[in-house]
Amino acid sequence: SKKITIAIDGFSSTGKSTIAKLLAKKYNYIYVDTGAMYRAVTLFSKQNNFVGKNFLNKDELISKLQLVRLSFQFNQKLGFAEMYLNGNNVEKEIRTLEVSQLVSKVAAISEVRKKLVAEQQQMGKEGGIVMDGRDIGTVVFPDADLKLFMTASADKRATRRYKELIDRGDKVNFDEILFNVQERDRIDSTREDSPLIKAKDAIEFDNSDMGIKEQFDRICSLVDSKL
Ligand code: C5P
Repeated sequence: SKKITIAIDGFSSTGKSTIAKLLAKKYNYIYVDTGAMYRAVTLFSKQNNFVGKNFLNKDELISKLQLVRLSFQFNQKLGFAEMYLNGNNVEKEIRTLEVSQLVSKVAAISEVRKKLVAEQQQMGKEGGIVMDGRDIGTVVFPDADLKLFMTASADKRATRRYKELIDRGDKVNFDEILFNVQERDRIDSTREDSPLIKAKDAIEFDNSDMGIKEQFDRICSLVDSKL
């Protein structure tokens, strides 16, 4: 059957990647976590002192962008692709609260977006792809066959993220996670270049109270109707 393009956008920690991974597995599609790419550029920027808690050396970062080589490598055991930055697996480092606190500043830079959007469009040019992020249905694939927009209450989202980090063994407190989730949403929604907005033709899912199974079933019928 036809290999379609599925775009999933929404606020942070709304379960986008969970749905995306399940879809990719079921339909045998490629899954691309674009947030991981912005996080990897942020890690690079942090390592080179282009960004920190109270500063952003935008011009320096832009001048060194060509040194950033991103790739995804499928991990058979995990069942999904992991993020590599210049040949190193950075999957763990990009998920820290510190990177989460800096990423929205880096993602607001147009030159960063231009580079990553071009790479994302290249990965999706054959179809058969599920991509999640903030601007997939609006900028990366405005002609996607199916666009989903995920939402959930800030409290539910922070709880989800908090559990993830605690399970990994990180020392974090709930309030700083809640603050980070809301602060990222604020920056992502108000930036000038590619702000997070629901595409006109996107279908909205609020999963504050919906189980993953019920939601996944509903999304699968949407996918099936496009095939
Ligand atoms: O999806 P995730 O929460 O990992 O994304 C991290 C950050 O990367 C977002 O808060 C946003 O600032 C940025 N991002 C973006 N555009 C995308 C994906 C992520 O600006 N398509």
